[in-house]
Amino acid sequence: MAMIRATFHFPQGFLWGTATSAHQVEGGNRGNDWWAWEEAGRINGNERSGEACGWWEGRWREDLDRAADSSQNAHRLSLEWSRIEPEPGKWDQDALDRYREILRGAIHRGLTPMVTLHHFSNPRWLVEQGGWLDPAAIDRFVSYVRTAVEALEDLASLWITINEPNVYAYLGYGSDEFPPGAGDLRQQIQVLQNLVHAHAAAYHVIHQIQPEAQVGLAHHYRSMVPAKPGSLFDRQVTRIRSQLFNELVPEAVHSGRFRLPWRSTRIPEAANSQDFFGLNYYTEELISFDVRSAKQAFGRGQYAADHEVSPTGFIASAPGGMRRALRWARGFNLPIYVTENGVEDPSDELRRRYLARHLKEVWHAANLNWRVRGYFHWTLVDNFEWERGWSQRFGLWALDPVTQERSKRMSADFYAQVARENCLSSEMIERYAPEIYDEIYVGPPPDSAEAR
Ligand code: GAL
Repeated sequence: MAMIRATFHFPQGFLWGTATSAHQVEGGNRGNDWWAWEEAGRINGNERSGEACGWWEGRWREDLDRAADSSQNAHRLSLEWSRIEPEPGKWDQDALDRYREILRGAIHRGLTPMVTLHHFSNPRWLVEQGGWLDPAAIDRFVSYVRTAVEALEDLASLWITINEPNVYAYLGYGSDEFPPGAGDLRQQIQVLQNLVHAHAAAYHVIHQIQPEAQVGLAHHYRSMVPAKPGSLFDRQVTRIRSQLFNELVPEAVHSGRFRLPWRSTRIPEAANSQDFFGLNYYTEELISFDVRSAKQAFGRGQYAADHEVSPTGFIASAPGGMRRALRWARGFNLPIYVTENGVEDPSDELRRRYLARHLKEVWHAANLNWRVRGYFHWTLVDNFEWERGWSQRFGLWALDPVTQERSKRMSADFYAQVARENCLSSEMIERYAPEIYDEIYVGPPPDSAEAR
């Protein structure tokens, strides 16, 4: 039988980039809550962000060269609030100038910047004043956003207000993996609600300063499928978990209603407060009802047996979940950017397959005329992975954090070819992921969980 050959073309002007965040790449972020958390020994293996990827000291240059030389045309990065406002109401002009230099450097290299204003880390002073549990954080955030956007508006017009409010509120307040580690569902909900207010206020302020700005959030969507579709309990518990984790925030910033299963609050200024839908997608889990999992809304998650799992068991390669995520995101009727997607894999074997499978889903969506406008792979160079420290390697380039030496993984070449040719072709699959040629070009459908 002749091999099927086909080229999946992406729309013209598609953005191809990688995503990074300040604390994970800059190094030396002593003024934020993560640094304190690291000093308190809360990271896997007692690791520290340390000098991270050395971006603040200038290594952003060589890494953005890597991005540009490999045909990327965009880059998502974040600003570190604690650098810009080291003390309440005190602005650090040098820090703003440094960010201007980085953004100019990105543009100069042909990389359209997408700028995140809050990516998990907070100034220590904010935390001392009550952090995100206190609604006063909303105004404090807005004044930082105003200063940052006024200083940078000539260099960026794609803004993400807050990265993954659901993950931040869950890991920092519902559980104890992120600072401040409250472990309290009520606090988690309160923080989520404050973040929705903060996003909405920031959205309006950015538009006052820069009417042409495109502003959104980066929503983390974790695909959830009932383990036994025939079980009413599994279905119900999946619905509740997905509503709380995946849907609450996107619905609030769409409809202006913060809708919990037990109460609904109106936040009118949050209605229609996104110009695009930012989607972070990594994985999918099967959910079963479990009376012992009260803290998880009585649901227990596990990865499907037929999905490949990453080396530390963190991510299952589940492209059907990407399709589900995109289909759902499309319901908000906004342009969509995949603002993060990737897998930790030092050996780079799974990553090449993961990339092929997920890019095919992005293409599939674009091909159906869903309004997908860009894709940002997580990430460019291995970086500090939060509570998991340096134990997970998400980079297209490997990093030795001690010597700061980078080495290219094969996925970097794969991704470069995709970006350069603006397509995913059978020739690329043959070269970079030949073992899944049939899966990509013949079947079975990636949505196998759907059939369960
Ligand atoms: C996301 C987060 C990123 C990165 C990634 C991989 O949730 O936004 O900062 O850490 O996960 O772990």
